[in-house]
Amino acid sequence: MTPKFTPLKDHDTPIKVLFTGYLCTVGLGYLFALIQILFTHGMADGKFGLSVDDIVYSYYGNRSGTVLEQKLNGSMKENAPEQERFKIMEWVRAGADADDYKDDGIDKIIETRCVMCHNKEASGIPNFTELEGLKAYTAEDTGATFASLTRVSHVHMFGISFIFMFVGLIFSFAETTTTQYKCIAIGMPYVFLVADIMSWWLTKIHPMFAWLVIFAGMGMGISFMFMWVTSILEMWLFKPVFINGFGSRYLEWRDSPEASIADRIWVVIKTLASQVKPTAVFVKEQWLKYAWPVINGLFKK
Ligand code: HEC
Repeated sequence: MTPKFTPLKDHDTPIKVLFTGYLCTVGLGYLFALIQILFTHGMADGKFGLSVDDIVYSYYGNRSGTVLEQKLNGSMKENAPEQERFKIMEWVRAGADADDYKDDGIDKIIETRCVMCHNKEASGIPNFTELEGLKAYTAEDTGATFASLTRVSHVHMFGISFIFMFVGLIFSFAETTTTQYKCIAIGMPYVFLVADIMSWWLTKIHPMFAWLVIFAGMGMGISFMFMWVTSILEMWLFKPVFINGFGSRYLEWRDSPEASIADRIWVVIKTLASQVKPTAVFVKEQWLKYAWPVINGLFKK
């Protein structure tokens, strides 16, 4: 079968340079994104490395305590002796009352132990010279705020969908991957992207969904890597890899009857897709028959 498109290896060199430049830059960007995730979310539980706890703390929050308590048991531990830290925590547990702040002598502890760093001049860390600055850290840690989630969600959806637009477009010229696998590899990132962002919101509601964040993120990464590597190899190393190298065995396997997993996934996707229309018709019928008269009646009343 001759493809209806120009295979990657047959594109003109300038186009290949353009594609490669884009892929390499985006690949580097992906790498930096991973590093950033390691240093922000990865540190959420106080330990290096990304874990389910990190994701839960980032989105759902650590509901068993306040940020102040966690810090006093974590990175701020060395800054005050045991008893004083205990006094601060007692005050937080009792509701972080403004009157008790002076009466219990918390203000003195903060002044002597914390204000040398946490003052107006310090940038990037909160100012504790007034109670207001401290107050924010005495509330229950409920993770990411809805405002920040909304912001990050739309930035991700717009930005990442563009990255996969071009990576997918380049990869669509690949010839070593069957049409089915190509559709799966090109479509998956979008499914995972939506699942990833939905799972942040779900994790905010229930920590169980932290697994979905990890699963969707990995799915996106795997699709990206597959498309990236295939495109680069086909453009520059077609002969050594797909004709003389290990890629030739991959092509044999691709054309053998054993390689039917893709076919099976394909059949499932097609069957599901063919059900979309009848389902929509059914839902619409039910809506017009039952729900709409009820809603209409409510408004007329
Ligand atoms: C030697 C300087 C220093 C002293 C003293 C110090 N801190 Fe900090 N504090 C920092 C730095 C730097 C950070 C940011 C890094 C981090 O979160 O570990 C920070 C972060 C924090 C945070 C988290 C802020 C955030 O935005 O999440 C809290 C809460 C905190 N400190 C409380 C205290 C308390 C309470 C004391 C006094 C017992 C104290 N700190 C004493 C340097 C200091």
